Amino acid sequence: MANERTLSIIKPDAVAGNNIGAIYSRFEDAGLKIVAAKMLHLDDEKAGGFYAEHKERPFYNDLVSFMTSGPVVVSVLEGENAIAKHREIMGATNPADAAEGTIRADFASSIDENAVHGSDSAESASREISYFFNEDEVCARTR
Ligand code: TYD
Ligand code: MG
Repeated sequence: MANERTLSIIKPDAVAGNNIGAIYSRFEDAGLKIVAAKMLHLDDEKAGGFYAEHKERPFYNDLVSFMTSGPVVVSVLEGENAIAKHREIMGATNPADAAEGTIRADFASSIDENAVHGSDSAESASREISYFFNEDEVCARTR
């Protein structure tokens, strides 16, 4: 298994629900290290560009509107198999389908307000990390 980095976003619903700490605990309990972190209030351009792959989907405008509705916490997580591990602890996109004990099952209310984002592949992780962080904002964790 490879040591990987992946991008996490704690979405506006989860920030508003005071669940930042609880969600960070899920990451750390799963063995993922937080190696970069910032709180941002995205504008239409930044949120729209992030979700550019979904531009033609019917939910795109509502998604951008939701993602700009309040602050988010953007983080880089590092660890063995981090991309798949993070997706696993997040749970399915629709919280109604998310496995018991996953972040979305426990903190999300609907498919359009689903608490967290996680990169879905090595290619998207690389693009998404550099979309939010300069190289010198990601810390090497030696211990
Ligand atoms: P997607 O990349 O399919 O899901 P995931 O976040 O699990 O990688 O979709 C991106 C986001 O778009 C998703 O988290 C919530 C929103 N979305 C909707 O609002 N309605 C939908 O039907 C889908 C598929 C996604
Ligand atoms: Mg996705």
